Amino acid sequence: FRLIRNGSASRSRDIGRGYSSGAVPERKVAVLGAAGGIGQPLALLMKLNPLVSRLALYDIAGTPGVAADVSHINTRSEVAGYMGEEQLGQALEGSDVVIIPAGVPRKPGMTRDDLFNINAGIVKSLCTAIAKYCPHALVNMISNPVNSTVPIAAEVFKKAGTYDEKKLFGVTTLDVVRAKTFYAGKAKVPVGEVNVPVVGGHAGITILPLFSQATPKANLPDEDINALTKRTQDGGTEVVEAKAGKGSATLSMAYAGALFADACLKGLNGVPDVVECSFVQSNITELPFFASKVKLGKNGVEEVLGLGSLSDFEKRGLENLLPKLKASIEKGIKFANQI
Ligand code: NAI
Repeated sequence: FRLIRNGSASRSRDIGRGYSSGAVPERKVAVLGAAGGIGQPLALLMKLNPLVSRLALYDIAGTPGVAADVSHINTRSEVAGYMGEEQLGQALEGSDVVIIPAGVPRKPGMTRDDLFNINAGIVKSLCTAIAKYCPHALVNMISNPVNSTVPIAAEVFKKAGTYDEKKLFGVTTLDVVRAKTFYAGKAKVPVGEVNVPVVGGHAGITILPLFSQATPKANLPDEDINALTKRTQDGGTEVVEAKAGKGSATLSMAYAGALFADACLKGLNGVPDVVECSFVQSNITELPFFASKVKLGKNGVEEVLGLGSLSDFEKRGLENLLPKLKASIEKGIKFANQI
């Protein structure tokens, strides 16, 4: 396999827009699992991001084609494809952000937890390499079950002595994307203006959209809020069933993953007031990890923001999700420490 180093290195003057200094820093982004259903459109979207100067596409198979294809797009970043474990180190070296959509997706009838046995091992080995080759990178964990893979990553990094809680993120952006879309549809407000925080975790009832804080305000009746909450929680299953055995959300997930990575890059670059929901190490409940609004800065997490005021319905949802989320977190920690 030949390393592919194509791509346009031309810099558009527009890149600097919004940056006080004018100059946009060099940033390397690595995508692990780049030839997969999420990985490919995510590679495309990251290639379109002017904040990226180097894009490393890694997978156990199929990356030469994806990298060659994406590299012909005339945007800023240089693209390189890496295939097989012996090239993982090169893929990771110098990365500022590592996005991980590697692993198996759900089939109809499966929960995210059913993926644990395969994906836990994949995440563990990829994180071991991250600790070795780019210990300071921000890690964006997409591989499911996120409620367990993030704690696994933390344990791996702790063992390697590289853990920085500010730099590990479970990507829950798709839950936010779905909540915004569904809310806009129901409330009949312009989707581009909608904001809805989604807290908790990333599986079933652990996904808790806070529609009481949604803007623009719409005063929807309780039954609509119940239905919207359920649809957001089951959004992934809706796609899994529609794809009928051909995988889970890939295109909307790639969009959400690209959005979150862009927020991480903006934070690193010092853009002020970058806030996204993410599953991170947290003190806002009794659990060690929790998804909530997070302010992103030059070192990753700058501040984990609180929950704000919750409706009674949301308070009950929070109470119900905590034991389930706790069990998933503990399962991840146990797995990471048992082998
Ligand atoms: P896919 O099967 O289409 O792609 C996965 C890719 O990972 C494949 O190309 C495969 O070769 C690669 N891979 C497997 N082992 C690897 C390793 N050790 N190193 C590097 N790459 C490896 O699956 P898809 O649909 O892209 O989903 C990927 C993951 O993302 C799944 O775990 C899925 O559950 C999760 N997901 C997460 C979401 C979220 O909101 N966080 C939403 C949707 C999916």
